[in-house]
Amino acid sequence: MASSNILKNVEESFSIPLPEIKRIMERFHREMEKGLAGERSSLKMIPAYVDRPTGKEKGKFIALDLGGTNFRILELELKGGGRMSEPKAMSFVLYKKHITGRAEDFFGFISNCVKTFLRKRKISAGQKRSLGFTFSFPIRQTAIASGSLINWTKGFSAKGVVGEDVVRLLRISLLRHRIHNIEISALANDTVGTLAAKSYEDKACDTGVILGTGTNACYVEEMSKIRKWHGFRSKDAHMIINIEWGNFNKLKQNSYDRELDERSYNPGQQILEKMVSGMYLGEVVRLVLVDFIEKQLLFKGVESPILRKGHSFKSQDVSLVESDDSKGLRNIEFLLNKLNISRSTPEERMLVKKICEIVSTRAARISATAIVSVVTKMDPKVSRRHTVAIDGSVYEKHPHFAKRMHDCLQEILGKKASRIKMVLAKDGSGKGAAVIAAVAAATS
Ligand code: GLC
Repeated sequence: MASSNILKNVEESFSIPLPEIKRIMERFHREMEKGLAGERSSLKMIPAYVDRPTGKEKGKFIALDLGGTNFRILELELKGGGRMSEPKAMSFVLYKKHITGRAEDFFGFISNCVKTFLRKRKISAGQKRSLGFTFSFPIRQTAIASGSLINWTKGFSAKGVVGEDVVRLLRISLLRHRIHNIEISALANDTVGTLAAKSYEDKACDTGVILGTGTNACYVEEMSKIRKWHGFRSKDAHMIINIEWGNFNKLKQNSYDRELDERSYNPGQQILEKMVSGMYLGEVVRLVLVDFIEKQLLFKGVESPILRKGHSFKSQDVSLVESDDSKGLRNIEFLLNKLNISRSTPEERMLVKKICEIVSTRAARISATAIVSVVTKMDPKVSRRHTVAIDGSVYEKHPHFAKRMHDCLQEILGKKASRIKMVLAKDGSGKGAAVIAAVAAATS
């Protein structure tokens, strides 16, 4: 088969035309309903035990933001009137040994970081602080400040945490490290944090999205529609629902998706995440590149042992490739050199760029489709304005991701697309944990 035909086939296997988008939206709604009813569904629809903040919350809070490549601790002051101070933050790197070792060591590392932070911020043992804990994994929440881990995602696998209350584990660890002045008053998913942080200042914000190492979203649901909720329900009350959309599995997988899934540590799970998020975007591209090399369509079939290795092509590389508008595509050439591909023609580099575009465009279209599904769950005719707060490296750093999402939104909704405002909510997950700690403090 001629190379242009093969490229066309690949392009087709990654395309999501409008009728397919509509089909996905229907299935997304069905899975949401099932999840809310407590029936078997790929969408867990987890009640977050918290509504949006009022914007009036005040006080100094600490937030602990854990769930991506970096782990952050921050302190910030909520001033009321929707205003907050710039957070004072410290970042720590989570190494493989932390995320794949024992629970004790995992939480021990976090406690040591908290100790360092308190020392650095000169918060003495006598000064009490409430802490909001953003833990960005599927948690079966049982109260605002407790919940057990359902399963790990994003390559984390510390032993002895699944099924356990992560707040309890952190509390025990803090005490073991002689930290007595920190009260963990809220546990939140990063999407919930992002929504809380943005809605503190913008009342129209009702959806929080993460497009980073992993992907997920939360939104504001009417309590009466959360059929599996058996707790107290006041009339007109709302609660934030963590969708865990990364696990949505009603999407058509092509041969590359299936290969990636089969080789992953969690086959059959996080199917949407594997097509969209930063942990996997580069890997999908890598599998297509290897296939093209094997078919002698790239680099004269000369293999790169580096590229043969899983996850050697990163999502940052996808961004770099798609940002290269130089004559001769020199940045792509430089990247290929690093991958031990020392000879490439401008046409081949163009083909690499095209492959990245195909893969990341699908990711952006799936993201937009999922967002429209969530908004139309709350407001089927999109008759009001909605702010969608988005945080994460893929949305922030990829040169065309946001624009492609926007274009797709318009394709689906036409003029009504202008009622959905997608905004970057930088560091939302961390700031939001502090906001939720404040909501918890105000309602306790
Ligand atoms: C994964 C986690 C989810 C989190 C998302 C973004 O999908 O399961 O809880 O929100 O990553 O970090």
